[in-house]
Amino acid sequence: MTSILIRGGTVVNADRSFVADVLCQDGSVVAVGENLHAPAGATVVDAGGQYVMPGGIDPHTHMQLPFMGTTTMDDFFSGTAAAMAGGTTTIIDFVIPNPQQPLLEAYQTWRGWAEKSASDYSFHMAITWWDETVKRDMGTLVQQEGINSFKHFMAYKNAIMCDDETLVNSFKRALELGAMPTVHAENGELVYLLQREVAALGISGPEGHPLSRPPMVEGEAANRAIAIADVLGVPIYVVHVSCIESAEAIARARARGQRVYGEVLAGHLLLDDSVYRNPDFASAAAHVMSPPFRPKGHQEALWRGLQSGNLHTTATDHCTFCAAQKAAGRDDFSKIPNGCGGVEERLAVIWDAGVNSGRLTPSEFVAITSANTAKLFNLYPRKGSVSVGADADLVVWDPQGTKTLSAKTQHSLGDFNVFEGRTVRGIPSHTVSQGVLVFAQGELRAERGKGRYLKRPAFGANFAAAKLRAEALTPTAVTR
Ligand code: URP
Ligand code: ZN
Ligand code: ZN
Repeated sequence: MTSILIRGGTVVNADRSFVADVLCQDGSVVAVGENLHAPAGATVVDAGGQYVMPGGIDPHTHMQLPFMGTTTMDDFFSGTAAAMAGGTTTIIDFVIPNPQQPLLEAYQTWRGWAEKSASDYSFHMAITWWDETVKRDMGTLVQQEGINSFKHFMAYKNAIMCDDETLVNSFKRALELGAMPTVHAENGELVYLLQREVAALGISGPEGHPLSRPPMVEGEAANRAIAIADVLGVPIYVVHVSCIESAEAIARARARGQRVYGEVLAGHLLLDDSVYRNPDFASAAAHVMSPPFRPKGHQEALWRGLQSGNLHTTATDHCTFCAAQKAAGRDDFSKIPNGCGGVEERLAVIWDAGVNSGRLTPSEFVAITSANTAKLFNLYPRKGSVSVGADADLVVWDPQGTKTLSAKTQHSLGDFNVFEGRTVRGIPSHTVSQGVLVFAQGELRAERGKGRYLKRPAFGANFAAAKLRAEALTPTAVTR
């Protein structure tokens, strides 16, 4: 029996925090309380002066993603190992079929790639095209394979973009199945047009990237997706909300009583669009991701969204391309592979900028880095809580520990760090995954293939309420 006793820390859950020891045995939390006894042979971790929190859950990563003609640097092993070094013990990645590719074929491919994961993982399924087989396979994925969320890219025209017909059909099917539709909200037609217009102005460098994807391009798509979800009566989750326009769309819909959820990336909270004006192509290109980093002012709106409860989760969209890969767009910004890293840094930068600044309490931090994601994607309370019966996926957090973030010391295989040079206060001292110490005082002990695929059941009662709403739209007989 493998046992770990984490002694003398302050347990932080999303609902409360309290001083307690935490005993883990054979991968589960078996006791949370004061003065727990260490079984023979147990590893004892002294958590005095530290917090003991549920391991982070990153609901948006792309490991080993083939995208824009190349494949990300981090695979499922290096990416999840880096995640664990930063206190994140679960990722939800994306299966992204090519248009016309059967969903189940793509699903099996991604399951194969992910077998090397060091941490537990799950998948959202992207819907990139539509026909009756897609509709059927969505059912198989929900009912047999434990996928309860479907992703729709409203951008990336001529690649994986979904048109409105696909969006409507897929949202309706998701509702039938009790699955959550999610969207990458950017109007792909506008991006396509603006890319050409910006190029015609003679702008070929990375500074053209944000010009071709202004905030209203995101705001339009967010409003459209939310409106479609409202008409159909299905909840909706908007990934990587980066600007005031889409944050306000979500807040407005929620004020009307609509079940809309928003995700924010660590990068969008902390960086602004000045990164694209760096004369060094490699640095500017390394920041090319979509939606782009935004002008100052948008970051504050995202923090306020998290503080007010109108935005719910934090993620990274971890999608690492090295300088040689980014160089594919040296003469044309629209060809720079889109994506940045961050899976290892998310918790530390959000703690430093969020908790140390007083914007978030430690419990609110747990909510937005772990518990809310577990609830929204049906992993709770197995994940997202320090409680008896939960998986022993924990992070022991040293609020006084400091670190200067750098590509030179990161575990990710990417050669760039968007948080380069930032010194954070508040870092993991230990990470426990499946009841095993996988990171201790700077030493990473990630094991290839140790991670498990997490099935996430369809929603029941939560969705029934949405269906009632849909039924309310059914016309009643008009008496004249
Ligand atoms: O630029 C990004 N975000 N790359 C990954 C694909 C996506 O849009 O999520
Ligand atoms: Zn996206
Ligand atoms: Zn993404």
